[in-house]
Amino acid sequence: MNSDDLTFWKKVNLRQRLLRDIADPVILETHGGRGKLYSACYSYVERGMVIEKNLEKAERLARQRPTWRVYQADSVSVLRLGLGRTMPFNVLDVDAYGSPWETIDAFFASERVRVPKLWLVATDGLRKVTTVHAAWITNSLKPIVKRRGNNLHDQYLSACFDMLTEKAAQGGYVVSTFDGYYCGFSNQMTHFYAVLTSSK
Ligand SMILES: C[S@@+](CC[C@H](N)C(=O)[O-])C[C@H]1O[C@@H](n2cnc3c(N)ncnc32)[C@H](O)[C@@H]1O
Repeated sequence: MNSDDLTFWKKVNLRQRLLRDIADPVILETHGGRGKLYSACYSYVERGMVIEKNLEKAERLARQRPTWRVYQADSVSVLRLGLGRTMPFNVLDVDAYGSPWETIDAFFASERVRVPKLWLVATDGLRKVTTVHAAWITNSLKPIVKRRGNNLHDQYLSACFDMLTEKAAQGGYVVSTFDGYYCGFSNQMTHFYAVLTSSK
């Protein structure tokens, strides 16, 4: 199995494990791609919303999941504007190629229905920039670099926990469970998940 396939199956495994604890999932997938995670994990879920910026992929996603809301859009912009704000999402899946942080921020900074318990699962490619000491010039990492310094490589997961805690607080959530691991080429990818509970 090549490194990409292995990473994909790790993503699937992580999501399937989380789904076991969620009785009635309502999914928000912010980076729909070719719908591979949906096929492997979410095809039984009736209610959801998926966003994908590439038109051809978005059309395919619409054919794939007739009961979901499907948008061809930049997820950061539309979530910030409150897209899907009345839907009681209890799973937020941010499978980004690079940074998930702008998307996570847009979700929590926007006015939307708050559920008692929200599961978040994310793919973060930014550990790569920490290997070349470039965190300080990476927009989404600048605030954490101010607090922890530029050498985030060995503490990247713990930095993710801090960043998530801060962003989730904007939406009225506290992080009650957090875990993750490094994977992919040179361990440059980070997969993490969290359980968030409403603080209000
Ligand atoms: C890692 S892939 C997602 C794979 C997907 N989870 C699947 O199961 O096939 C990332 C996808 O995000 C899309 N994308 C990148 N930036 C985006 C954005 N700002 N808003 C929406 N989609 C975006 C890309 O076009 C690409 O298809």
